Amino acid sequence: MALDKVILAYSGGLDTSVMVPWIKEKYNLDVVAFTVDLGQGEDIQRIRQKALRTGAVDAVAVDARNLFVDCFVFPALMAGAIYEGKYPLATALGRPLIAKLMVDAAREHNAKAVAHGCTGKGNDQVRFDVTFQTLAPDLQIIAPVREWKMSRPEALAYAAKHNIPVEATKESPYSVDLNLWGRSCEAGVLEDPWDEPPADAFAWTVDPAKAPDQPVYVEIEFEQGRPVGLDGQRLDGVPLIERLNTLGGAHGVGRIDHVENRLVGIKSRELYEAPAGVILHDAHRELECLVLSKQAQRFKTFVAQEYADMIYNGLWFSAMDLFQYVVSNQRFVGGFVRVKLFKGKATVVGRKSEHSLYSKKLATYESADQFDHDAAKGFIKLWGLSQQTQARQQLLKGGKGFDLPSLMGPDRKGDK
Ligand code: ARG
Repeated sequence: MALDKVILAYSGGLDTSVMVPWIKEKYNLDVVAFTVDLGQGEDIQRIRQKALRTGAVDAVAVDARNLFVDCFVFPALMAGAIYEGKYPLATALGRPLIAKLMVDAAREHNAKAVAHGCTGKGNDQVRFDVTFQTLAPDLQIIAPVREWKMSRPEALAYAAKHNIPVEATKESPYSVDLNLWGRSCEAGVLEDPWDEPPADAFAWTVDPAKAPDQPVYVEIEFEQGRPVGLDGQRLDGVPLIERLNTLGGAHGVGRIDHVENRLVGIKSRELYEAPAGVILHDAHRELECLVLSKQAQRFKTFVAQEYADMIYNGLWFSAMDLFQYVVSNQRFVGGFVRVKLFKGKATVVGRKSEHSLYSKKLATYESADQFDHDAAKGFIKLWGLSQQTQARQQLLKGGKGFDLPSLMGPDRKGDK
């Protein structure tokens, strides 16, 4: 009699390979391995074959790169979603999509359960499980790493016992997760936040000190908040991001060293490489400065932070609720941004847009000036009125004037 099935998020690494026989033994389920290409640069067909050799009853490999960019990465870019002002959320954006595709596969294969290889300490388990719960509350969730107490040597022994092919790759001293929006690296020597990350922790970017002595310029075109072209050429999201990762990486752009607040209550030191993410967020933000009203720009900063938190905390489907606001906020975010890549930095050096709110006639200090200087005087009089009133009634009372150091606190020093 055929057993019930489980859809396992399968990477081809040691842990998820060991899970194939382990889940079968422990849960009496047949494993369907599920591998998604989110641009991590791995051959998913090869991984699929490995799953079959490892004992999976079936194995599915899906290329979801376009879906990832169109429905996850670019919406997050439009929203300006950067966690704690630093992390462009590559891993966090990938999880709900993988989980959603696993639910689809579970329906197709009539599976009763889903499984992933996340630990019990990270954010990724939350993102997977919350998405499963949201989309398919009937599916059982199995997270072997949360249950088993296997060390690496034990996992290797288990693999040998079950004839699981283990590739003779050098064991990485880090825990790494990749997709085309970025590379996340943690653990090992990175666990001491005082230690500078060693060269071997980076894979996408050159050391900025060793980057070329000549800068390179890229010109990015946006329409309604989405990047649509590079250097005068229309380009789909996937190749556009790939090009920027390569160019940015070659100039050492996109390294992020962050001590972040995990959802599960701990701080952890994370190292990210996201050349395209950094370049596109910088370019996008600068274009917004040109085309958004002051009010829209300020309100957007709150939305951006909320959006980033929801993505990071596994509530991508809640973030989606804010997306219609973002779409409307972004309707004039079109134009061109020129970015200079040089020695580890991406610097926006030019921007233009047909929707620009920048008016040279108002901003100029030259004779073409149309700004009403006379109006400024009356404006300032009223602008400062409340502060002036407070000073007269409270701060300047007694006619002694301000004693600045004592106003700032008991031990501030004045100049004498
Ligand atoms: N700290 C990041 C996040 O929560 C990255 C997690 C990366 N996962 C990994 N297995 N290295 O999104």
